[in-house]
Amino acid sequence: MRGAFISFEGIEGTGKSTQCRLLAEHLRQKGLSVTETAEPGGTHISLKIREILLSLDSRAMKPVTELLLYNAARVQHIGEVILPALQRGDVVITDRFSDSTIAYQGYGRDLDLELIAALDRIATNGLRPDLTILLDIEVETGLRRNRAAGKADRLELEKISFHEKVRKGFIALASGEPGRIKLIDCSGGIAEVQQKTAGIVTDFLKTYHI
Ligand code: TMP
Repeated sequence: MRGAFISFEGIEGTGKSTQCRLLAEHLRQKGLSVTETAEPGGTHISLKIREILLSLDSRAMKPVTELLLYNAARVQHIGEVILPALQRGDVVITDRFSDSTIAYQGYGRDLDLELIAALDRIATNGLRPDLTILLDIEVETGLRRNRAAGKADRLELEKISFHEKVRKGFIALASGEPGRIKLIDCSGGIAEVQQKTAGIVTDFLKTYHI
C-alpha cells in the first residue's frame, strides 16, 4: 500500500528542519516507519546540484537555470528516495518540495507560473504531498534567526523584498489549497509549533490506513 507524503514549507528561519526531525521522532514512537528527507537533496546527485544552487560562487546564475536545477534535483529525489519509500508504505517527510519552487522561483524571481507548472508536471509526473505544513514567520525575524545560526547561502543573502515576495507566495498557495496546506504561525517556541504540527498530522493520518 502507498504510504503518506508530508512536506514542510516556509521561508528562511522558520525552524523547518527541527520540526521535520521532531515529527519524524514522534511518528516513529507511534510505531510508524518514516523516511526523512530534504530538498534540494536526498540523493548524491541532488546534493551536488544543491551545492551549485546555494554556493556563493553561483551569483551569476540566471533565474531559469535556477528553476531547471531545482527541478532536476527533484527528479532524482523522487525516483531514488520518495517513490520507493511510498511504495514500502512509509510516511515520507520532506523539508521542501514543489511549493518552494512556486514560492521562490515563481513569486520571488517573477518567473511565469504556467512555465513552472509545466516543468513541475515533467519533474514530478503529478506527485503532490498529501499534506503540507507551512511554517510562517515575519521575514526579518526568520532572517535574524538564520544569521544567528550562521547560515548564509546564496538565497538567504537575497534582499528583504525578495523574501517578502516568497512569503506572499506561500500564503497565496495556502489560501488556494486549504485542504492540503496548513499554515502554522511559528513565532512562538519550538514546542508550541511541534504540538500544533503533531495535532494536524495525527488528524490527517486517521484518514490513512497506515
Ligand atoms: P534550506 O535547506 O535552507 O531550506 O535551503 C534551500 C534553499 O533553496 C532555500 O533558500 C529555498 C531554496 N529553494 C528554492 O528556491 N526552490 C526550491 O524549489 C527549493 C526546494 C528550495
